[in-house]
Amino acid sequence: MADAIRAERLGKTYPHSKDAALVGIDLRIPAGSVYGLIGRNGAGKTTFVRIASTQLMPSEGEIWVLGHDAVAEPRSVRARIAVIPQESRPLYFLTIDELVFHHLRMRGMERAEARRRTDQVLGQMGLADRADTLVSRLSGGLRRRAMVAMIFASDAELLFLDEPTTGLDPLARREVWAAIQRAREGGRTVLLTTHYLDEAEALSSRLALIERGRVIVEGTPADIRGRVKYPFRVTLPASLSQSELTSYGEVSGVAGGWLVFAREEAARELTRLALGRNLAVAMAPISLEDIFLQLVGRPLTEGESAGEEVA
Ligand SMILES: Nc1ncnc2c1ncn2[C@@H]1O[C@H](COP(=O)(O)OP(=O)(O)OP(=O)(O)O)[C@@H](O)[C@H]1O
Ligand SMILES: [Mg+2]
Repeated sequence: MADAIRAERLGKTYPHSKDAALVGIDLRIPAGSVYGLIGRNGAGKTTFVRIASTQLMPSEGEIWVLGHDAVAEPRSVRARIAVIPQESRPLYFLTIDELVFHHLRMRGMERAEARRRTDQVLGQMGLADRADTLVSRLSGGLRRRAMVAMIFASDAELLFLDEPTTGLDPLARREVWAAIQRAREGGRTVLLTTHYLDEAEALSSRLALIERGRVIVEGTPADIRGRVKYPFRVTLPASLSQSELTSYGEVSGVAGGWLVFAREEAARELTRLALGRNLAVAMAPISLEDIFLQLVGRPLTEGESAGEEVA
């Protein structure tokens, strides 16, 4: 399959900063896929999105988008992409309906087609009953959804979504997920950045984990799971002592007890041991959050413990 985006040795150092934001990035993003870029704050995700969407010049390397050199031929790229920047806000003085409709018209879409797509997307995104509400009167989450609706309604082949679901309630997040899935079914390519690893895993056919401007691991969610030493997690109460646990795997203290990353057999043994003592125990395959912890050594969101999962 052709690549929607191909980056080779891509690097970026912002003016007046001594550390590079991106270093030697080699990435291929297959056309027709949902591709997840994950990494902590400041890892370089937005920098990559801005370069690939022709808003920022790289310092080094090459980037090809939909078959065009994004640096030399940005205009050829722009007509075929749509972007939701991380910090963007929609125009306040329009209604949701006008926002979407005029965006499509500005992209050059015929009036009747723009009308049809606007009605369709507002229905799909649960915004139909608020179509005539001014954007300035919407909550932050609804504004974000209106932006998402706007770019999904477009005919762009490649969509850049930089943290589209940040600040959305769980139901609204699911609506955005459904929109992303529809885009993929329609043959479009979506580049998604997110801090929600469940989201990245649920939606993406491939993922790249970026840390300090470098790709640390890349592949399908299954590939990435295969890369770690301990594919299971066991949570146990604090009444067990750490010394009892260390032989099973990698032990760390978490709120209310212990988290042990272990191989499957050791995880089962540990679970049996705990059950034998009538202790609460949960064993589960590791989450992407855990993978991040094992590969990078710190949680994705510094200071927060990894999400608990019950087997
Ligand atoms: N305009 C800028 N000028 C100078 N440095 C910048 C600029 N934008 C970003 N940086 C730096 O580049 C690095 C990567 O930032 P970037 O915004 O790409 O990270 P990110 O992965 O999108 O983070 P987040 O998850 O917080 O959105 C950071 O060290 C950041 O401070
Ligand atoms: Mg960002």
